[in-house]
Amino acid sequence: MTADVRWNRKDLLGIRELSAEEITFILDTADAFKQVGTRDVKKVPALRGKTLVNFFVEPSTRTRTSFELAATRLSADVINISAATSSLTKGETLKDTAKILEANHADIIVLRHSSAGAAQFLAERVRASIINAGDGAHEHPTQALLDLYTIRARRGAIAGLHVAIVGDILFSRVARSNIFALLKLGARVTLVGPSTLVPRAFEQLGVSVSHRLDEVLPTVDVVNLLRIQHERQRKEYFPSIGEYIRLFGLTKARAKLLRPDCLIMHPGPINRGVEIDSDLADGVQSVILDQVTNGLAIRMAVLYLCGGISAR
Ligand code: CP
Repeated sequence: MTADVRWNRKDLLGIRELSAEEITFILDTADAFKQVGTRDVKKVPALRGKTLVNFFVEPSTRTRTSFELAATRLSADVINISAATSSLTKGETLKDTAKILEANHADIIVLRHSSAGAAQFLAERVRASIINAGDGAHEHPTQALLDLYTIRARRGAIAGLHVAIVGDILFSRVARSNIFALLKLGARVTLVGPSTLVPRAFEQLGVSVSHRLDEVLPTVDVVNLLRIQHERQRKEYFPSIGEYIRLFGLTKARAKLLRPDCLIMHPGPINRGVEIDSDLADGVQSVILDQVTNGLAIRMAVLYLCGGISAR
């Protein structure tokens, strides 16, 4: 592993607090774990004897299974808990639930929660490593790390690239974590969507804001499409889905505006035919399944690094 910084964090709560060197260190560490995935024996003993709890209070397919597989590949013991099967349904608090897990010697807790700040709340109250697997509309750090890993693997570097993030930015933890990570590593970022979901206030983060997708598409190296997050919206932010597709959907006609080497990304879950045409999602410019595969190496790296600190 070729990094020039030491890792000294027991928790991964967000990208905002990481330095560019720490982000690069995680990506480089993931490179080593990606190699492990190509071997006949895909397991390493790095977390043997450690217990990881996958604590998902919000639904997930990709992130939960990816963390479970990553922990298994690192030889940790894994327990999965969902909101529906936990005593949260009986009124137990998040803190008490975490304390119970810790009393059972959980070393790492991977938390997905609907409230922004939930991961930080636990990190300040338990000794176990806390890994944020998405907290409300705040951050989703491992998603941003796997997105950057995928871009770097395809384009060689992040610095100097122009990345468009399209759709529901206001309610997106994926967008926030990607913005922080891309800017720290020297990319240019343009956010695109309806003014109600992409207000000009985002410019304060150091990004550009546009409400005209057709003008942005020919200028970008990467287009990252986001789902409309109806579960977090409390009112209507655009007239209709048809109107949204007409103005902001990546249709086949609109995709002709892209450079041939522009990468098409989506964190999932995809609403095919809404934010992206189904054929484009499966097409030659799409790296959506690479993102999933790379997510495993990134989560192995994060568990290895943070789990190593918690073990001291
Ligand atoms: N991208 C992502 O977080 O997907 P899941 O909600 O399926 O975990």
